[in-house]
Amino acid sequence: MKAEQIFDIAGQTAFVTGAASGLGLAMAEVMAANGARVTLADVDAETLEIEVARLREGGFAVTGAVVDVADRDQIHRAIDAAAARDGRLDIVFANAGISAGPGFKEMVGRIENVARDAWDKVLRINLTGVFTTIQAAARHMKAQGSGRIIVTSSIAGLRGDPPVGYAYAATKAAVANLVRQAALELAPFNVLVNGIAPGPFLTNIAGGRLRREPERHAEFAARVPLRRLAQPDEIKGLALLLASPAASFITGAVIPIDGGSTAG
Ligand SMILES: NC(=O)c1ccc[n+]([C@@H]2O[C@H](COP(=O)([O-])OP(=O)(O)OC[C@H]3O[C@@H](n4cnc5c(N)ncnc54)[C@H](O)[C@@H]3O)[C@@H](O)[C@H]2O)c1
Repeated sequence: MKAEQIFDIAGQTAFVTGAASGLGLAMAEVMAANGARVTLADVDAETLEIEVARLREGGFAVTGAVVDVADRDQIHRAIDAAAARDGRLDIVFANAGISAGPGFKEMVGRIENVARDAWDKVLRINLTGVFTTIQAAARHMKAQGSGRIIVTSSIAGLRGDPPVGYAYAATKAAVANLVRQAALELAPFNVLVNGIAPGPFLTNIAGGRLRREPERHAEFAARVPLRRLAQPDEIKGLALLLASPAASFITGAVIPIDGGSTAG
């Protein structure tokens, strides 16, 4: 079988949350570049409009949807609308997420200082937002008897990770287990649910801190066996794999993409 057949997603429909920036934008791009019709969903209306226009100019079949994943009704409405418009829903990336601020290596992130509002906000977006996205996708995919759901966890969800903050580590572990839970329920319906667990990528998370602060960048790079941070484009291969026929027997997996960070 040729690579273009194994990874063929042409004509499928995809919905990506957090798609105006970073990993979500790269996921949307690789779906569109391989012939899928893609809805890019994001809370940042301005950036979303710019990126959707850029992709359309590139000849891709993309639509923007302004959605706050923390709002259950908004995410259900947006996924229902995409499924109704395209007539089906093949691939959903539950990707949107935010940083929780510094972890316990800095005084501000120590356990006694974790602010209630920040904790609640991270849970609403990183956990409830992901659950609601899976829930909304599953309804359509169960009915059609096929589908792929791909959740962005983090290596911070696979082990303790002092710099990332309590709420972030907790939500990323929680969504890794949501992947396994949903994979078991949805397997009989031919709906495959998997997770991606990135190590450090140079995106706009935490205000793009890793890109702007050389010391912080070096500190994170030193913790990676490959001794560098990843570019957003480097998520594309794994995203395409999990969305494509190549992954037909993969479900319930949470796959690190981390330059070896979790190997040791
Ligand atoms: N960059 C990394 O090093 C890294 C590592 C592990 C996991 N992740 C995860 O990858 C995912 C994507 O993050 P990124 O690094 O690309 O960051 P990013 O900030 O570049 O992109 C995140 C996007 O999500 C959007 N978003 C934020 N809150 C939202 C909401 N409530 N509703 C809808 N959209 C919302 C933002 O507007 C932004 O466009 C997140 O879940 C993040 O936790 C990132």
